[in-house]
Amino acid sequence: MHNPNWGVIGLGVMGTSLSRNLAQKGVPLALYNRRVEGVEENVAEKHCLTFPELKSALPFEDLNRFVDSLQAPRKIILMLPAGTATNSILKHLTPLLTKGDVVIEGGNSHFEDTEKRAKELADVGIHFLGMGVSGGEEGALTGPSLMVGGSESAYPLVSKELETIAAKNLKGEPCCAFLGAGGAGHFVKIVHNGIEYAEMQLLAEVFELAGSDARHDFIDLQKMFGEWLNTSSQSYLLEITHALLNYTEKGNPFINFIKDEASNKGTGAWATAAGANLGTNNSMMASALYARFNSSSKNEREKISKIFPRARKDEKISLEALKKAYDLSRLINHHQGFEMIREAALVYGWKINLSTIASLWSEGCIIKSDLMHSLIDIFKSNQTLLEYDPFIQKINAGLESWELTLESSLKQHIPTSSMSSAWHYFLAISQKQSSANLIQAQRDYFGAHGFKRTDSSDDTLHHGPWNTDKN
Ligand code: 6PG
Repeated sequence: MHNPNWGVIGLGVMGTSLSRNLAQKGVPLALYNRRVEGVEENVAEKHCLTFPELKSALPFEDLNRFVDSLQAPRKIILMLPAGTATNSILKHLTPLLTKGDVVIEGGNSHFEDTEKRAKELADVGIHFLGMGVSGGEEGALTGPSLMVGGSESAYPLVSKELETIAAKNLKGEPCCAFLGAGGAGHFVKIVHNGIEYAEMQLLAEVFELAGSDARHDFIDLQKMFGEWLNTSSQSYLLEITHALLNYTEKGNPFINFIKDEASNKGTGAWATAAGANLGTNNSMMASALYARFNSSSKNEREKISKIFPRARKDEKISLEALKKAYDLSRLINHHQGFEMIREAALVYGWKINLSTIASLWSEGCIIKSDLMHSLIDIFKSNQTLLEYDPFIQKINAGLESWELTLESSLKQHIPTSSMSSAWHYFLAISQKQSSANLIQAQRDYFGAHGFKRTDSSDDTLHHGPWNTDKN
């Protein structure tokens, strides 16, 4: 029997699922997990005994022996926490590799770290691929969405196996693609997570708004999410929200036993910062991130809520209007996310096709949805979602409902950071004349930054007549 040439490093939840997926598809494997006395011992070996599909995999906790067991060109997937753990293993692994080997880094890494690693490894003849993996434990096992970037010449060496383990879209095509050099794959994964944050936050806002109306009890809410699933609002996140609200403990909804403090592992902050650095408006990701920050300031909230006590008003909520507001906010969320990728592709020189991204995200990942399926065709033309006729009609038909829903959230003092930021984005982006002439005047007044004149068609910067010496 030949030695395997595929190896997986890091047998946490995602590494284990991905290894099992590869093994189920007939890819011979070597597995490595570090040894930490009393904490992580014989992990790889135990996996080979526990999971029948890993029975013939080779288990290691010695990195040298793991690398030696693999035939060149080696294809090694790293499934480790982003940052220190990944850096440290790369430091030890790289000197053991041979020119032409391929390292595929599948953690949730920052795309700029991936850019750096790809360059460093290329300098010593090792191919580096940064691969965004979405779908959680279940997706990694049964078919994740794989967003690959890095060494273009290395992709053909690993594409067959990666495409085999990936989810398949409705046409049976793999939700796996090479997206560009350097950090392209991890950049797209960061945007995926930003969209994910806002999708989750929107559902939380709907949950609070609908639940605030005394006429709707918990069962109604659960039923409502169930009904929405049979409409164009369908999504994986809606599906799990509907499912989890069904759980009870001692006759009470289980959700009521969970503290209202949402944590995060950093990708939402990266998404927010990446959008800001590109100069694209990703206000929905940002607002969802800040909503999480607010939620986790539980002590502060408790203190301040005593200073500003407020009673809930019994405001009538139209569930029909709420659904329209939700749908339109999702449209804006997807619009912002995809436009962020469009801009990044220009800035970083990636040949990313937005229709391919929609296809990658149509199955296997956390933000898969009916809307995502429809975006595959919509993005075949170059238009943005706000220029697509059926969406224009949908927005026009839903504006009043969106407004009513936000009005009612204001009256009830319910924060709707994502739904409101979608609304404000929409108002701003569809406003021909904004108030930014005042901002430019202020900038020029205090800093002589200059402004373009309305009566001139060129980009020359002018200064105002302000007599700033007086100040
Ligand atoms: C996925 C998820 C996954 C995960 C992150 C984000 O695509 O499978 O995005 O990567 O949920 O860990 O987590 P936080 O909410 O903790 O930032």
